Amino acid sequence: MKRLVSGIKPTGEPTLGNYIGALRQFVNLQNELPDTEIFVFIADLHAITTPQDKQKLKKRIREIAALYIACGLDPERVTLFIQSEVMEHAVLGYIMESTAYIGEMERMTQYKDKKRKQTEGIRTSLLTYPALMAADILLYDATVVPVGEDQRQHLELTRDLANRFNNMYGETFVVPEAYTPKVGARIKSLTEPTKKMDKSSENPKSYILLQDDLNAAKNKIRSAVTDSDSKIKFDEKNKPGISNLLMIYAALTDRSIKDIEDQYIGSTYQAFKEDLANIVYDTLKPIQEKFNEILKSKELDEILDKGREKASYIARRKMSKVYKRIGLGR
Ligand code: AMP
Ligand code: TRP
Repeated sequence: MKRLVSGIKPTGEPTLGNYIGALRQFVNLQNELPDTEIFVFIADLHAITTPQDKQKLKKRIREIAALYIACGLDPERVTLFIQSEVMEHAVLGYIMESTAYIGEMERMTQYKDKKRKQTEGIRTSLLTYPALMAADILLYDATVVPVGEDQRQHLELTRDLANRFNNMYGETFVVPEAYTPKVGARIKSLTEPTKKMDKSSENPKSYILLQDDLNAAKNKIRSAVTDSDSKIKFDEKNKPGISNLLMIYAALTDRSIKDIEDQYIGSTYQAFKEDLANIVYDTLKPIQEKFNEILKSKELDEILDKGREKASYIARRKMSKVYKRIGLGR
Protein backbone atom coordinates (compact mmCIF):
# COMPACT_ATOMS: atom_id res chain seq x y z
CA MET A 1 0.00 0.00 0.00
CA LYS A 2 1.34 3.40 -0.92
CA ARG A 3 0.75 6.18 1.54
CA LEU A 4 1.17 9.93 1.37
CA VAL A 5 1.67 11.87 4.60
CA SER A 6 2.15 15.59 5.13
CA GLY A 7 1.36 18.40 7.53
CA ILE A 8 1.28 22.14 8.01
CA LYS A 9 2.01 24.05 11.20
CA PRO A 10 -0.80 26.25 12.54
CA THR A 11 1.45 29.25 13.05
CA GLY A 12 0.74 32.53 11.30
CA GLU A 13 -1.62 32.80 8.37
CA PRO A 14 -0.98 30.49 5.43
CA THR A 15 0.54 32.17 2.39
CA LEU A 16 0.44 31.66 -1.34
CA GLY A 17 3.83 29.94 -0.81
CA ASN A 18 2.23 27.35 1.48
CA TYR A 19 -0.53 26.90 -1.06
CA ILE A 20 1.75 26.38 -4.05
CA GLY A 21 4.48 24.43 -2.23
CA ALA A 22 2.21 22.24 -0.15
CA LEU A 23 -1.61 22.51 -0.20
CA ARG A 24 -2.01 22.55 -3.96
CA GLN A 25 0.35 19.57 -4.23
CA PHE A 26 -1.76 17.55 -1.82
CA VAL A 27 -4.82 18.26 -3.92
CA ASN A 28 -3.09 17.44 -7.21
CA LEU A 29 -1.61 14.25 -5.81
CA GLN A 30 -4.94 13.16 -4.39
CA ASN A 31 -6.18 13.12 -7.98
CA GLU A 32 -3.00 11.87 -9.66
CA LEU A 33 -2.36 8.96 -7.28
CA PRO A 34 -5.65 7.08 -6.99
CA ASP A 35 -3.96 4.06 -5.37
CA THR A 36 -2.29 6.04 -2.63
CA GLU A 37 -3.85 6.50 0.80
CA ILE A 38 -3.59 10.09 1.95
CA PHE A 39 -3.01 11.36 5.48
CA VAL A 40 -2.76 15.06 6.16
CA PHE A 41 -2.65 16.66 9.54
CA ILE A 42 -2.39 19.94 11.36
CA ALA A 43 1.04 19.93 12.99
CA ASP A 44 0.03 21.67 16.20
CA LEU A 45 2.72 20.05 18.34
CA HIS A 46 5.24 21.63 16.00
CA ALA A 47 3.70 25.05 16.60
CA ILE A 48 4.78 25.12 20.24
CA THR A 49 8.47 24.96 19.40
CA THR A 50 8.04 28.76 19.63
CA PRO A 51 5.68 30.66 21.97
CA GLN A 52 2.04 30.76 20.85
CA ASP A 53 -1.00 32.59 22.09
CA LYS A 54 -3.46 29.97 23.34
CA GLN A 55 -6.61 31.45 21.78
CA LYS A 56 -4.93 32.12 18.46
CA LEU A 57 -3.47 28.62 18.32
CA LYS A 58 -6.86 27.05 18.92
CA LYS A 59 -8.43 29.19 16.22
CA ARG A 60 -5.68 28.46 13.71
CA ILE A 61 -5.84 24.72 14.17
CA ARG A 62 -9.45 24.77 13.00
CA GLU A 63 -8.65 27.23 10.27
CA ILE A 64 -5.93 25.08 8.77
CA ALA A 65 -8.28 22.11 8.85
CA ALA A 66 -10.96 24.13 7.04
CA LEU A 67 -8.40 25.42 4.61
CA TYR A 68 -7.31 21.93 3.60
CA ILE A 69 -10.86 21.20 2.54
CA ALA A 70 -11.41 24.65 1.02
CA CYS A 71 -8.36 24.10 -1.16
CA GLY A 72 -9.89 20.93 -2.53
CA LEU A 73 -8.91 18.01 -0.31
CA ASP A 74 -11.74 15.52 -0.42
CA PRO A 75 -12.63 14.44 3.13
CA GLU A 76 -13.94 11.15 1.78
CA ARG A 77 -10.61 10.41 0.19
CA VAL A 78 -8.24 11.87 2.75
CA THR A 79 -7.67 11.15 6.42
CA LEU A 80 -7.53 14.59 7.99
CA PHE A 81 -6.58 14.91 11.64
CA ILE A 82 -4.93 16.99 14.32
CA GLN A 83 -1.46 15.78 15.30
CA SER A 84 -1.82 16.34 19.05
CA GLU A 85 -4.99 14.24 19.16
CA VAL A 86 -2.98 11.16 18.24
CA MET A 87 -0.67 10.67 21.23
CA GLU A 88 1.61 8.27 19.41
CA HIS A 89 3.24 11.15 17.53
CA ALA A 90 4.85 12.42 20.71
CA VAL A 91 5.87 8.95 21.87
CA LEU A 92 7.49 8.01 18.58
CA GLY A 93 9.01 11.50 18.53
CA TYR A 94 10.83 10.59 21.74
CA ILE A 95 11.95 7.27 20.27
CA MET A 96 13.29 9.18 17.26
CA GLU A 97 15.18 11.51 19.62
CA SER A 98 16.68 8.34 21.00
CA THR A 99 17.70 7.30 17.51
CA ALA A 100 19.11 10.65 16.30
CA TYR A 101 22.39 12.29 17.31
CA ILE A 102 22.55 15.83 18.69
CA GLY A 103 25.03 16.73 15.95
CA GLU A 104 22.48 15.84 13.29
CA MET A 105 19.88 18.12 14.85
CA GLU A 106 22.33 20.98 15.24
CA ARG A 107 23.20 20.80 11.56
CA MET A 108 19.64 21.51 10.39
CA THR A 109 19.55 24.76 8.42
CA GLN A 110 16.10 25.75 9.64
CA TYR A 111 17.18 25.36 13.27
CA LYS A 112 20.31 27.42 12.69
CA ASP A 113 18.28 30.18 11.00
CA LYS A 114 15.61 30.29 13.68
CA LYS A 115 18.17 30.20 16.46
CA ARG A 116 19.98 33.15 14.93
CA LYS A 117 16.79 35.22 14.85
CA GLN A 118 15.80 34.37 18.41
CA THR A 119 18.46 34.80 21.05
CA GLU A 120 16.63 34.13 24.29
CA GLY A 121 14.47 31.30 25.52
CA ILE A 122 15.07 28.95 22.60
CA ARG A 123 13.02 25.89 23.39
CA THR A 124 14.59 22.44 23.40
CA SER A 125 11.88 21.28 21.00
CA LEU A 126 13.08 23.74 18.36
CA LEU A 127 16.23 21.64 18.22
CA THR A 128 14.54 18.25 18.44
CA TYR A 129 11.67 19.16 16.09
CA PRO A 130 12.97 17.05 13.15
CA ALA A 131 12.69 13.96 15.36
CA LEU A 132 9.00 14.67 15.84
CA MET A 133 8.64 15.31 12.13
CA ALA A 134 10.30 11.95 11.41
CA ALA A 135 7.82 10.33 13.80
CA ASP A 136 4.88 11.99 11.99
CA ILE A 137 5.99 10.33 8.80
CA LEU A 138 7.27 6.95 9.99
CA LEU A 139 4.26 6.26 12.19
CA TYR A 140 2.16 5.78 9.05
CA ASP A 141 4.72 4.01 6.84
CA ALA A 142 4.53 6.92 4.42
CA THR A 143 5.99 6.23 1.00
CA VAL A 144 5.70 9.79 -0.28
CA VAL A 145 5.90 13.11 1.57
CA PRO A 146 5.06 16.26 -0.39
CA VAL A 147 6.84 19.30 1.05
CA GLY A 148 8.34 22.60 -0.05
CA GLU A 149 12.07 22.98 -0.59
CA ASP A 150 12.71 24.19 2.98
CA GLN A 151 11.68 20.79 4.36
CA ARG A 152 13.86 18.57 2.18
CA GLN A 153 16.66 18.44 4.70
CA HIS A 154 14.26 17.21 7.38
CA LEU A 155 13.09 14.54 4.99
CA GLU A 156 16.67 13.39 4.41
CA LEU A 157 17.11 13.10 8.16
CA THR A 158 13.86 11.12 8.41
CA ARG A 159 15.25 8.66 5.88
CA ASP A 160 18.50 8.35 7.82
CA LEU A 161 16.64 7.72 11.07
CA ALA A 162 14.36 5.11 9.48
CA ASN A 163 17.36 3.27 8.09
CA ARG A 164 19.27 3.50 11.34
CA PHE A 165 16.35 2.17 13.35
CA ASN A 166 15.77 -0.64 10.87
CA ASN A 167 19.43 -1.64 11.04
CA MET A 168 19.51 -1.52 14.82
CA TYR A 169 16.24 -3.25 15.64
CA GLY A 170 15.13 -5.02 12.46
CA GLU A 171 12.84 -3.89 9.61
CA THR A 172 10.19 -1.65 11.16
CA PHE A 173 9.76 1.50 9.10
CA VAL A 174 9.22 2.26 5.43
CA VAL A 175 11.88 4.67 4.16
CA PRO A 176 9.91 7.59 2.65
CA GLU A 177 10.60 9.69 -0.44
CA ALA A 178 10.30 13.46 -0.50
CA TYR A 179 8.15 14.94 -3.23
CA THR A 180 8.74 18.56 -4.15
CA PRO A 181 6.83 20.20 -6.97
CA LYS A 182 8.68 20.84 -10.24
CA VAL A 183 7.63 24.48 -10.13
CA GLY A 184 6.99 26.39 -6.95
CA ALA A 185 8.85 24.47 -4.26
CA ARG A 186 10.18 27.79 -3.07
CA ILE A 187 8.03 30.83 -3.77
CA LYS A 188 9.93 34.03 -3.04
CA SER A 189 9.07 37.27 -1.34
CA LEU A 190 7.35 39.82 -3.60
CA THR A 191 9.51 42.64 -2.27
CA GLU A 192 12.84 40.82 -1.85
CA PRO A 193 12.68 38.07 -4.44
CA THR A 194 15.87 36.35 -3.34
CA LYS A 195 14.26 35.43 -0.01
CA LYS A 196 11.51 32.90 0.66
CA MET A 197 7.92 34.15 0.85
CA ASP A 198 7.44 33.98 4.58
CA LYS A 199 4.48 34.93 6.73
CA SER A 200 6.82 35.98 9.52
CA SER A 201 8.23 38.80 7.37
CA GLU A 202 7.61 42.32 8.67
CA ASN A 203 6.49 43.68 5.31
CA PRO A 204 2.95 42.49 4.45
CA LYS A 205 3.55 43.45 0.81
CA SER A 206 6.16 40.70 0.62
CA TYR A 207 3.61 37.91 0.93
CA ILE A 208 0.08 37.07 -0.15
CA LEU A 209 -2.05 35.41 2.48
CA LEU A 210 -4.72 32.98 1.41
CA GLN A 211 -7.05 35.13 3.52
CA ASP A 212 -5.91 38.45 2.09
CA ASP A 213 -8.52 40.89 0.89
CA LEU A 214 -8.76 40.02 -2.81
CA ASN A 215 -8.04 43.50 -4.07
CA ALA A 216 -5.13 43.90 -1.70
CA ALA A 217 -3.74 40.63 -3.07
CA LYS A 218 -4.02 41.97 -6.61
CA ASN A 219 -2.20 45.12 -5.62
CA LYS A 220 0.62 43.14 -4.07
CA ILE A 221 1.20 41.42 -7.42
CA ARG A 222 1.01 44.75 -9.26
CA SER A 223 3.63 46.28 -6.96
CA ALA A 224 5.90 43.21 -6.83
CA VAL A 225 9.58 44.08 -7.29
CA THR A 226 10.89 43.39 -10.80
CA ASP A 227 14.02 44.53 -12.64
CA SER A 228 14.30 47.50 -15.00
CA ASP A 229 14.63 45.36 -18.10
CA SER A 230 11.22 44.50 -19.52
CA LYS A 231 11.67 40.99 -20.90
CA ILE A 232 9.42 38.36 -19.41
CA LYS A 233 12.09 35.71 -19.17
CA PHE A 234 12.86 33.11 -16.51
CA ASP A 235 16.34 33.78 -15.11
CA GLU A 236 16.45 33.28 -11.36
CA LYS A 237 19.95 34.65 -10.98
CA ASN A 238 19.66 37.91 -12.91
CA LYS A 239 15.90 38.42 -12.87
CA PRO A 240 14.67 36.94 -9.59
CA GLY A 241 11.52 39.10 -9.38
CA ILE A 242 9.99 38.24 -12.72
CA SER A 243 11.17 34.62 -12.38
CA ASN A 244 9.26 34.32 -9.13
CA LEU A 245 6.12 35.76 -10.75
CA LEU A 246 6.52 33.35 -13.65
CA MET A 247 6.76 30.52 -11.17
CA ILE A 248 3.56 31.62 -9.43
CA TYR A 249 1.84 31.96 -12.79
CA ALA A 250 2.96 28.50 -13.92
CA ALA A 251 2.01 26.83 -10.65
CA LEU A 252 -1.46 28.37 -10.51
CA THR A 253 -2.32 27.57 -14.12
CA ASP A 254 -0.51 24.20 -14.38
CA ARG A 255 1.29 25.52 -17.44
CA SER A 256 5.00 25.39 -18.24
CA ILE A 257 7.14 28.47 -17.76
CA LYS A 258 8.30 28.21 -21.37
CA ASP A 259 4.73 28.32 -22.61
CA ILE A 260 4.02 31.44 -20.56
CA GLU A 261 7.23 33.15 -21.70
CA ASP A 262 6.18 32.52 -25.30
CA GLN A 263 2.76 34.03 -24.69
CA TYR A 264 4.30 37.24 -23.34
CA ILE A 265 7.03 37.84 -25.93
CA GLY A 266 6.93 41.56 -26.69
CA SER A 267 4.48 42.25 -23.87
CA THR A 268 5.12 44.43 -20.81
CA TYR A 269 5.63 43.70 -17.12
CA GLN A 270 2.52 45.70 -16.44
CA ALA A 271 0.32 43.58 -18.70
CA PHE A 272 1.85 40.38 -17.37
CA LYS A 273 1.32 41.46 -13.76
CA GLU A 274 -2.27 42.43 -14.46
CA ASP A 275 -3.00 38.96 -15.84
CA LEU A 276 -1.26 37.32 -12.89
CA ALA A 277 -3.19 39.53 -10.46
CA ASN A 278 -6.40 38.20 -11.99
CA ILE A 279 -5.17 34.61 -11.80
CA VAL A 280 -4.37 35.06 -8.11
CA TYR A 281 -7.79 36.62 -7.58
CA ASP A 282 -9.52 33.72 -9.32
CA THR A 283 -7.53 31.22 -7.27
CA LEU A 284 -8.21 32.80 -3.90
CA LYS A 285 -11.86 33.71 -4.36
CA PRO A 286 -13.37 30.21 -4.34
CA ILE A 287 -10.99 29.11 -1.58
CA GLN A 288 -12.09 31.97 0.65
CA GLU A 289 -15.76 31.36 -0.01
CA LYS A 290 -15.52 27.67 0.73
CA PHE A 291 -13.32 28.32 3.75
CA ASN A 292 -15.90 30.51 5.45
CA GLU A 293 -18.61 27.99 4.77
CA ILE A 294 -16.66 25.03 6.18
CA LEU A 295 -15.43 26.86 9.23
CA LYS A 296 -19.01 27.41 10.33
CA SER A 297 -20.19 23.89 9.57
CA LYS A 298 -20.56 20.98 11.98
CA GLU A 299 -19.12 18.74 9.32
CA LEU A 300 -15.59 19.88 10.10
CA ASP A 301 -15.63 18.33 13.56
CA GLU A 302 -17.05 15.11 12.20
CA ILE A 303 -14.27 14.92 9.63
CA LEU A 304 -11.60 15.55 12.28
CA ASP A 305 -13.15 12.96 14.64
CA LYS A 306 -13.18 10.36 11.92
CA GLY A 307 -9.62 11.28 10.95
CA ARG A 308 -8.40 10.92 14.52
CA GLU A 309 -9.95 7.46 14.83
CA LYS A 310 -8.41 6.18 11.62
CA ALA A 311 -4.99 7.68 12.31
CA SER A 312 -5.00 6.44 15.93
CA TYR A 313 -5.75 2.90 14.88
CA ILE A 314 -2.74 2.75 12.58
CA ALA A 315 -0.51 4.65 14.99
CA ARG A 316 -1.33 2.39 17.93
CA ARG A 317 -0.49 -0.75 16.00
CA LYS A 318 2.76 0.72 14.76
CA MET A 319 3.80 1.76 18.27
CA SER A 320 3.21 -1.66 19.71
CA LYS A 321 5.52 -3.05 17.04
CA VAL A 322 8.14 -0.40 17.84
CA TYR A 323 7.98 -1.19 21.58
CA LYS A 324 8.48 -4.87 20.85
CA ARG A 325 11.43 -4.21 18.57
CA ILE A 326 13.19 -2.08 21.17
CA GLY A 327 12.32 -4.20 24.21
CA LEU A 328 10.18 -1.62 26.00
CA GLY A 329 7.40 -2.58 28.40
CA ARG A 330 6.52 -6.09 29.51
P1 AMP B 1 4.83 25.60 7.39
O1 AMP B 1 3.86 26.72 7.29
O2 AMP B 1 6.20 26.02 7.74
O3 AMP B 1 4.30 24.46 8.22
O4 AMP B 1 4.96 25.03 5.91
C1 AMP B 1 3.99 24.18 5.35
C2 AMP B 1 4.43 23.71 3.99
O5 AMP B 1 4.50 24.82 3.08
C3 AMP B 1 5.78 23.04 3.94
O6 AMP B 1 5.72 21.93 3.07
C4 AMP B 1 6.68 24.09 3.38
O7 AMP B 1 7.79 23.56 2.70
C5 AMP B 1 5.75 24.83 2.42
N1 AMP B 1 6.17 26.23 2.18
C6 AMP B 1 6.29 27.22 3.11
N2 AMP B 1 6.70 28.38 2.55
C7 AMP B 1 6.85 28.11 1.22
C8 AMP B 1 7.25 28.91 0.07
N3 AMP B 1 7.58 30.18 0.19
N4 AMP B 1 7.29 28.31 -1.13
C9 AMP B 1 6.95 27.00 -1.26
N5 AMP B 1 6.57 26.20 -0.25
C10 AMP B 1 6.51 26.74 0.98
N1 TRP C 1 7.82 20.70 9.48
C1 TRP C 1 6.85 21.02 8.47
C2 TRP C 1 6.89 22.53 8.21
O1 TRP C 1 7.27 23.30 9.04
C3 TRP C 1 5.46 20.62 8.89
C4 TRP C 1 5.45 19.17 9.18
C5 TRP C 1 5.44 18.60 10.41
C6 TRP C 1 5.47 18.10 8.24
N2 TRP C 1 5.44 17.24 10.32
C7 TRP C 1 5.46 16.91 8.99
C8 TRP C 1 5.50 18.04 6.85
C9 TRP C 1 5.49 15.66 8.38
C10 TRP C 1 5.52 16.79 6.24
C11 TRP C 1 5.51 15.61 7.00
O2 TRP C 1 6.55 22.94 7.16
